Amino acid sequence: MDVDVLLDHAASTPPRPEARAALQRWLDAANASATHAAGQAARVAVEQAREQVAAGLRCSPHEVVFTSGGTEADNLALKGIVWAARERSSGPVHLVTTGVEHPAVLGPARWLAERGDVALTVVAPDPDGRVPVERVLDAVRADTCLVSVMTANNELGAVNAIADLGPSLRERGVPLHTDAVQAVATLDVDVTAWQVAALSASGHKFGAPQGVGVAVLRRGLPVVPLTHGGGQDRGVRSGTFAAGLDAAFGAAIEAAVADRSEVRARLRALGDRLADGLLGLDGVRRNGPSAAAHRLPSHVHVSLDGVDGAALTLALDRAGIAASSGAACGSGAATASPVLEACGVVGTPLRLSLGWTSTEAEVDRALDVFGDVVPRLRRRQPAAHGA
Ligand SMILES: Cc1ncc(COP(=O)(O)O)c(C=O)c1O
Repeated sequence: MDVDVLLDHAASTPPRPEARAALQRWLDAANASATHAAGQAARVAVEQAREQVAAGLRCSPHEVVFTSGGTEADNLALKGIVWAARERSSGPVHLVTTGVEHPAVLGPARWLAERGDVALTVVAPDPDGRVPVERVLDAVRADTCLVSVMTANNELGAVNAIADLGPSLRERGVPLHTDAVQAVATLDVDVTAWQVAALSASGHKFGAPQGVGVAVLRRGLPVVPLTHGGGQDRGVRSGTFAAGLDAAFGAAIEAAVADRSEVRARLRALGDRLADGLLGLDGVRRNGPSAAAHRLPSHVHVSLDGVDGAALTLALDRAGIAASSGAACGSGAATASPVLEACGVVGTPLRLSLGWTSTEAEVDRALDVFGDVVPRLRRRQPAAHGA
């Protein structure tokens, strides 16, 4: 569906032209495991995509496993690494994660703990949504088999110090998984420099189609597969290669990395313009880290006083503005966000997220609409304003 102004790129950003072309080119690919010429041509496309991903995320092509998205990559990392550690250990194993993780990480972490497969520690964030490195390191025990800390939070846009955490955990011999799903579009994700053992990425957050992602699993890291079958992708993820989606992912990441510093600077300026305009309205506060270096340039998260969240997103929607009153990855149910609760965020939350297609004209149009809609909604429910 067309919208006038997409301020929900963190939910899904439009595919890049390079990704559309690659998907189209390989849509009717032969099975990439077939030995005939058409199959081998599809295999070349998949392997070329793997190399593009490895160059984009700075790892070896051999370490890239294609998945159906970020959720599967997170599940593979958590369950696969925990189960492999259990197989090797005679005693219990321990998992550390954080209270700001996406449900794709917290879900499997809690599930593993409920089954008794792992003891779980969930580290609390600071009110700005960042998780201090020292707090994570303090949670590590002798039996810790995995730490999972997201690179950047999908709601507040808070960026964690993965480049500091990775080497510290490596020194202690503990693998670090990072969910970099929200980071790839604007941050210089670097598996090698960050010394992470595993990383998740998702195509539809940076210009590939929905339904494709990768798990980076570093050489030598024991991982129990979640799917068994034909043994594709090092036997870690069986299933016929999705040549079109994989090729589109490779093309998109190459394009995103090529213009990432330009996009980052542009979105930083647009985000500031958007935030300044919103903060000029009565009863609006910005959430998340105050230092620009600690938040994604794409995310502007605010709380509004005296405005009903559902009424606000509906009014924005009617005016052609797509925004999110919470994270859009779940069932669509309007439940309170555990992440915002963990950070003590009060008021009606609104996440506005920019992406590679965002323009100044869109931001200005959105600000005009906010200037009209917010006071109008408050007039309708005057008692709530200032509560
Ligand atoms: C931080 C984070 N992790 C994981 C996911 C899930 O990715 P996918 O939608 O590709 O399954 C999302 C989706 O919003 C996300 O923001």
